[in-house]
Amino acid sequence: MLIQSLISATLVATGLLAEGVLAGGYHVPIPAKAQKRYENHYGAMLGKRASVAHTNSTKDFRYLTKKTKPYRVESLPDVNFDIGEMYSGLVPINSNDTSRQLFFIFQPTIGEPVDEVTIWLNGGPGCSSMEAFIQENGRFLWQPGTYLPTENPYSWVNLTNMLWVDQPIGTGFSVGTPTATSEEEIAQDFIKFFKNFQKLFGIKKYKIYVTGESYAGRYVSYISDAMINANDTDYYDLKGALIYDGVIGAFDSVQMQVPAYPLLAENNNMLNFNSEQLAELEKIHTSCGFDKYIDKYLTFPASGLQPPMKYTEECDVFDTALEYALAINPCWNIYEINQVCPLQWDILGFPTVLDYMPAGAPVYFQRKDVVKALHAPRNLTWTECSVNPVFVGSGGPQGEGDLSADPIQSVLPKVIEHTNRVLVSNGDYDFIIMTNGTLLSIQNMTWNGHLGFTKRPSTPINITLVDLEYADVFAENGMAGVDGGQGIMGIQHYERGLMYAETYQSGHMQPEYQPRSSYRHLEWVLGRTEEL
Ligand SMILES: *[C@@H]1O[C@H](CO)[C@@H](O)[C@H](O)[C@H]1NC(C)=O
Ligand SMILES: *[C@@H]1O[C@H](CO)[C@@H](O)[C@H](O)[C@H]1NC(C)=O
Ligand SMILES: *[C@@H]1O[C@H](CO)[C@@H](O)[C@H](O)[C@H]1NC(C)=O
Ligand SMILES: *[C@@H]1O[C@H](CO)[C@@H](O)[C@H](O)[C@H]1NC(C)=O
Ligand SMILES: *[C@@H]1O[C@H](CO)[C@@H](O)[C@H](O)[C@H]1NC(C)=O
Ligand SMILES: *[C@@H]1O[C@H](CO)[C@@H](O)[C@H](O)[C@H]1NC(C)=O
Ligand SMILES: *[C@@H]1O[C@H](CO)[C@@H](O)[C@H](O)[C@H]1NC(C)=O
Ligand SMILES: *[C@@H]1O[C@H](CO)[C@@H](O)[C@H](O)[C@H]1NC(C)=O
Repeated sequence: MLIQSLISATLVATGLLAEGVLAGGYHVPIPAKAQKRYENHYGAMLGKRASVAHTNSTKDFRYLTKKTKPYRVESLPDVNFDIGEMYSGLVPINSNDTSRQLFFIFQPTIGEPVDEVTIWLNGGPGCSSMEAFIQENGRFLWQPGTYLPTENPYSWVNLTNMLWVDQPIGTGFSVGTPTATSEEEIAQDFIKFFKNFQKLFGIKKYKIYVTGESYAGRYVSYISDAMINANDTDYYDLKGALIYDGVIGAFDSVQMQVPAYPLLAENNNMLNFNSEQLAELEKIHTSCGFDKYIDKYLTFPASGLQPPMKYTEECDVFDTALEYALAINPCWNIYEINQVCPLQWDILGFPTVLDYMPAGAPVYFQRKDVVKALHAPRNLTWTECSVNPVFVGSGGPQGEGDLSADPIQSVLPKVIEHTNRVLVSNGDYDFIIMTNGTLLSIQNMTWNGHLGFTKRPSTPINITLVDLEYADVFAENGMAGVDGGQGIMGIQHYERGLMYAETYQSGHMQPEYQPRSSYRHLEWVLGRTEEL
């Protein structure tokens, strides 16, 4: 997986977008109606970027005690509305040992109180879960290209108590020196941290759900398995798991190379490869036998166990295509293949496959005021994905220094068999973990007595939830209701405890790109609905 390099520390917190810049005015007159909408929308914020809103009443706070008070987040810089009940900070893996600690953000549900904790993990390896917290499924979002944080109407906090964690050690705001060489080790670290977290917040006998994306396909599987093995329902009553665009099988070959050419060919109207480029990609595809591999193994029922696959340089469709694509469209994004220029300002400094920050703009989680508000450690520099490896082994099945077997080999089947409620999903516009690669990996997994799915996924997912994010804008433009339900936005398939979901028009970060689909996914994982 491509990992971003260190974002220059000189970009830290210089407050570019202070009053002066905004007061500079616009290049073209804005129509009166749009101007009014703009002012209504951002009214309180214009020229007051440094302002914050404070929560006035804590009487409904469920987890506020003397012990948790130091973790309470009262306000966050540039978040100009009440953030409600929120906690964050460090919790040690081993009690009293502050040299190894994981960083969390905890937001209790704003819906009906539930005795649940839903854990979210980003991947990498080494990418911070602050990404999802602020750009995917948290209570407020500050997504690339947007002016200020906004409330997220599709937040997972609407449904459950959400816990985002920076792990393993070496990731984000976590504290300590990486020593792990396997998923088993980091899963043990995690469950120890998690018990300490629950004791701190007075949580016991809750239902636990583990969710995440990308490389966290491995974290989610192994951490869930460690919870099952701990045999302690006071703290680890695992009820379900969710994996988005996840590393579950032979990621660097089957999930990333084998399906690459067909995906590009099918989407070439967006990509604009010329015929020589397409022919070159097809040549690699066929000379490496990927066409035959798909014909033979992407079948329902499964045709048999797939031979082991490894990445080789001669069969690198992915990087060949990436070079072509970036020449045509410098803003091309492997995480969302429909992206075009401009390269957007991203408060995390990582808008596409490139690190990028406009000169002088700060990375949000490097700002001193943000670090302080979150009770995050001050002696390290947060980056979205760590610069140094978080696994220190050599090689491993995916070449990441993480020596554990792929989840499809045994731990993911165990998690499915234990909970009968696991959702594995892939977005069709993802070019790093591809939909057909994830399906191929499922067809090489044996769970609840059989290999793979017996039937080809085909049941549509009808998203009837109306747009909640831009509804006011539509109304102000005289188009109220046009942004109604989306219609068919994917395909679902359930067999033997495993739900598979293909998501249309979604890249790698599904809650960011198709939040209404993700909201449904979570409702299923939490057992609130039986179909998507
Ligand atoms: C808190 O109270 C102040 C003063 O009454 C008010 O201006 C502000 O809007 C309130 N904040 C929230 C988040 O309700
Ligand atoms: C941690 O330290 C406290 C205070 O010194 C002590 O009471 C407690 O037993 C220690 N806990 C562990 C697990 O060592
Ligand atoms: C989530 O909660 C907010 C605040 O109550 C609400 O406005 C929004 O409609 C909810 N979203 C969904 C999908 O129910
Ligand atoms: C789990 O613990 C319970 C109670 O201690 C015990 O009865 C049960 O056999 C254990 N199960 C496993 C799989 O170890
Ligand atoms: C995925 O595989 C199916 C079945 O083999 C095929 O019809 C479809 O075109 C493939 N999709 C992509 C994007 O490669
Ligand atoms: C498929 O599964 C078999 C048996 O578990 C394993 O040996 C093989 O490496 C797997 N193939 C891939 C491509 O994951
Ligand atoms: C960094 O700060 C954290 C607490 O904020 C502390 O636990 C940790 O030991 C410190 N690390 C170093 C290397 O000083
Ligand atoms: C999707 O749901 C909407 C609203 O219930 C309905 O009108 C529409 O016909 C459904 N679409 C399909 C293809 O079933």
